[in-house]
Amino acid sequence: TVPTGPLKIAEYPPGDLAGDNDILLSLVIPTYKERDNIENIVKILTGLLDEAIPGNYELIVVDDDSPDLTWQVAQSLIPDYPQLRVMRRQEERGLSSAVIRGWQAATGSILGVIDGDLQHPPEVLLQLLNKIKHGADLALASRHVDGGGVSSWSVIRRFLSRGAQVLGLIILPGVLGRVTDPMSGYFMVRRSAIAGATMNPVGYKILLEVIGRGKVGEIAEAGYVFRERTEGESKVTWKQYVEYIQHLIRLRVSTGRLGKISRKIDFPLGKFIRFGLVGFSGVFVDMAVLYLLSDPSTLGWNLTRSKIIAGEVAIFNNFLWNDAWTFADVSMQQKGWKQRIKRFFKFNVVCLAGLVINVLVLNIVYNFLVRNQYIANLIAIAVATIWNFWVNLKLSWRV
Ligand code: GDD
Ligand code: MN
Repeated sequence: TVPTGPLKIAEYPPGDLAGDNDILLSLVIPTYKERDNIENIVKILTGLLDEAIPGNYELIVVDDDSPDLTWQVAQSLIPDYPQLRVMRRQEERGLSSAVIRGWQAATGSILGVIDGDLQHPPEVLLQLLNKIKHGADLALASRHVDGGGVSSWSVIRRFLSRGAQVLGLIILPGVLGRVTDPMSGYFMVRRSAIAGATMNPVGYKILLEVIGRGKVGEIAEAGYVFRERTEGESKVTWKQYVEYIQHLIRLRVSTGRLGKISRKIDFPLGKFIRFGLVGFSGVFVDMAVLYLLSDPSTLGWNLTRSKIIAGEVAIFNNFLWNDAWTFADVSMQQKGWKQRIKRFFKFNVVCLAGLVINVLVLNIVYNFLVRNQYIANLIAIAVATIWNFWVNLKLSWRV
């Protein structure tokens, strides 16, 4: 039977009021039209978990009444796979709510989710489990840490994925800033970290919901490579992008973000101060180069050309200091010229966007808030600095 009512996880599993059920892991496999994948994934997961935690797990397939009868195929596997449970949903639809309904029926104290199409490498599951056992409240598989990646995504899909991430950082920094791969649909979380929170069923990105509404302390990540599909097809369309943005805004509004969660993450104040000082040094570099190039007593070049060069030299100056000093902890770990050039390139792009933001904010503040161009400029510089710092921290010098 399918749980109904609010999308809320109970503190204790159903029928286990004392909370002493010894089933450890409940892994939900949401499916829609995965007929050709389901047996394979159940087989592989069972093989892995039978070895690692025999008898201490359950697999819960939650199928949305797929027209290809995935649920029926899954049910037919139960005699061979006693740890398998199958839920066929006929009233509700959607990936996120499927996962939560599965967790509501789960008996485990660790709740997990994995795609049913084998795009998530099953072996990573044991790493995630280990991280939880070592104290993490939530462990996620990430494409953006060591050992992670995407196998053969188009430039456009990569770009959209990154764009979605940056947008998320702006709207919901307290949630998105805590993980390197907020789009991941492959993770586990302690029941205790999300018990009692009512989840919102909209959207594809269940992880946002879990971090945004739960009480998630320590988060750990393991790298994974997003594999290509061999059977069936993806259900992602442009609609999911629109839903994603709606989702971010809704979470932001309903949880008053920035507040509760971001107080939990330590703001890297030291880095911010160093970043600010480096930025300040850039002003002098910019001025000096501008003087050398444009002053009539020196080269006497035209102002725009001089300024572009001065700006880029200042960016280069700032990059060197930030790389060697501000974010030294990260640069030390990611040595090599290729990595360095990559960081420099990202830093450039972020700072350029920062410049656009600077000009935009200046105009908005000046025209609508305070009609004083110096105060407006200070505010604009502050906003652009925070942007530059935060996005570079999360993108260019990501741990
Ligand atoms: N029950 C149910 N209901 N399952 C669904 C639904 C639904 O409406 N839509 C999709 N699924 C299942 C699919 O059958 C598959 O097992 C899994 O959810 C992921 O769906 P895909 O359509 O294969 O998504 P994807 O491969 O493009 O996206 C993946 O990558 C994202 C990261 O960019 C998923 O892992 C996402 O969870 C992940 O966020
Ligand atoms: Mn997929």
